This record gives sequence, C-alpha cells and structure tokens, in this order.
Amino acid sequence: MDVLVAGGSGFIGQALCRVLVDRGHEVTAASRTPDADGLPAAVETAVADVTDSNLEEVVDGHDAVVNLVALPSHVQPRGQSHEAVHFEGTRHLVAAAERTGVERFVQLSGLGVESGVDTAYFRAKRRAERVVRDADLEWVIYRPSVVFGDGCAFIPFVERLSPPLVTLLPGGERTWLQPIWVDDLAPMLADGLEDDRHVGQCYEIGGPERLTLAETVSRIRGGGAVVSIPMGLAAIAAILVDPIPWVPFGRDQYRVLGLDNTTADNDATEFGVSSKSLRTLSAYLADEHR
Ligand SMILES: NC(=O)c1ccc[n+]([C@@H]2O[C@H](COP(=O)([O-])OP(=O)(O)OC[C@H]3O[C@@H](n4cnc5c(N)ncnc54)[C@H](OP(=O)(O)O)[C@@H]3O)[C@@H](O)[C@H]2O)c1
Repeated sequence: MDVLVAGGSGFIGQALCRVLVDRGHEVTAASRTPDADGLPAAVETAVADVTDSNLEEVVDGHDAVVNLVALPSHVQPRGQSHEAVHFEGTRHLVAAAERTGVERFVQLSGLGVESGVDTAYFRAKRRAERVVRDADLEWVIYRPSVVFGDGCAFIPFVERLSPPLVTLLPGGERTWLQPIWVDDLAPMLADGLEDDRHVGQCYEIGGPERLTLAETVSRIRGGGAVVSIPMGLAAIAAILVDPIPWVPFGRDQYRVLGLDNTTADNDATEFGVSSKSLRTLSAYLADEHR
C-alpha cells in the first residue's frame, strides 16, 4: 500500500512510519518542513501545508492518507489556529483524497472531543471528525489519551513546568489520564490501514493504567510533592494569564480540568491487544535506554 502520512515527521508520525516501512508499505511523510532525521531511509518526504486548500498534487497517487497534523493542544502558536490546522486542514486533506481516488483515510482525534467541553482545540477536532465521517472514503478515527515515548512533548513539558521540590497543579487530583506508549499505539494505527474490519469505526484508546494528573507528574519527576491548587484559585489564574500567549494555561485549559482523559472501554482490545500487555509510563521511565 502507498501511504501518505500527513504530519509524518512528528512524534506519532515517526513511530507510524517505522511500523509501515517494517510491514512493507511505501510511505511518504508530508509536512511544512519535513525532516528526514528520525524517519527510516525508505520514507520519502514531501512539503505540504494543510492550511493550503490545494493538496491534490501531494495526495495524488496514494492508496491511503493518515492525518497526524497537529498544533499543541495547550497553546495556539502565533498566526496559527486550531480551526485552520485541525478543522480546515482536515477538510483540505479529505477533499484532495476524494478527488484523487484515495481509498482509506485515518484520522487522529482525541479523547474528550464529544464531552461537551468547549475549547478551541476540542471544537476544531470535533468538526474535523465530522468531515471525516461524512467523507466518501473508507475512514477510521482514533481518539487516544495522552501519548508518551521518545520524542514526545508531554514528558519534557512536565519536567520544564515543575520546580524541583513542590509542583503546584490545578486539578491535580481531579483530572485522570490513561497514558499510552507511542510504540503500542502505532501498530494499531497501521492495522486501521490494513484491515477492513476497522472501516467506519471510532476507537478510544488508552494505556494500561489510569493515573491522576498528580500521580503522572510525580512519576515523571521521580518524586517531590505535588500540591493541588483549589479550583477557585485556578479559575482566577486562568483569567489573569489567558492573554499571555506563551503561558500554557488559560481559560481553555481551565475548562478541561476535571475532564477525564480516559476510556470507558479500552478499544485496544479491538486490535487483539490486551490492556495489561501495554507498556506503563513507569516501565518506560525506568528504562535507561530510552
Ligand atoms: N501526542 C499526544 O499526546 C496526542 C494525544 C491525543 C491526540 N493526538 C493527536 O495525534 C496527532 C499527532 O500528534 P503528535 O503528537 O505526533 O504531533 P506533533 O509531534 O506536534 O507533530 C505534528 C506534525 O504536524 C506537522 N504540521 C504542523 N502544522 C502543519 C501544517 N499546517 N501543515 C502540514 N503539517 C503540519 C508538523 O510538521 P511541520 O512543523 O514540519 O509542519 C509535525 O510533523 C494529532 O492529531 C494530535 O492531535 C496526540
């Protein structure tokens, strides 16, 4: 199969490209500045900006498209919006796929998009899912919990934010996560491309354990106290720092506090994987070769 991985040079993209090449597929990784470092030598790269409405040239000739294009969920970099990248970008990729005879389209969404919580990220991801579901394509949608592994943004983000001894966390004990290892997730994405059983399905995928945000931070930091900030105080802080673009906390982040980033039933089982066989965050962090 000839697969275009949009966002293929990103964190999940690199892991997926490795699996696809190992399974004998032809792979092109497309993004604005695709970097071949970190990709298998067999992967071709292509320049594409999904905010551009004309993506036919890049998409043409592929049997399948995987959409892994992302902006960080916690911040909108200057000049870019979740609406333009996640929603319009998906619309442009889907339209190009329909016009060029692509058969299958795999979309990465996120847990909580249908929760009713209204943030710019969730709104754009929700609308993007609708575009994919309405497309004249064989589609598969994945909603993973937070993904960890080599090259992830999540672990360095926590390490950077937290001071050495005490970490102050809004919603630390209220927010639940179900972190999944990228190398457990990537084969499930590849299965979605290969196996017709997955067409028309939306999968909620998490790792083997549910952790509070405080527990997650404590594991990453290897100890130290984690103190939850009362929600009232967090609400005031969110209003005060919301206008500051580089602060990764604001009204939208306040809105997702208390929203569980966990699955009701872990759909990892739909890929013949038992939840217990998945790698835990602790096992990953303890691995000195990572
Ligand atoms: N990581 C997680 O914990 C997590 C959890 C749930 C869902 N997801 C979803 O999984 C997907 C992949 O996430 P990720 O963590 O792998 O993201 P990532 O590491 O930030 O990679 C994003 C990719 O998108 C490309 N990109 C950004 N803007 C673009 C644009 N305008 N046009 C074309 N390419 C663009 C980037 O390359 P350039 O900069 O070269 O353009 C990069 O290759 C996203 O849909 C994300 O929402 C991730």
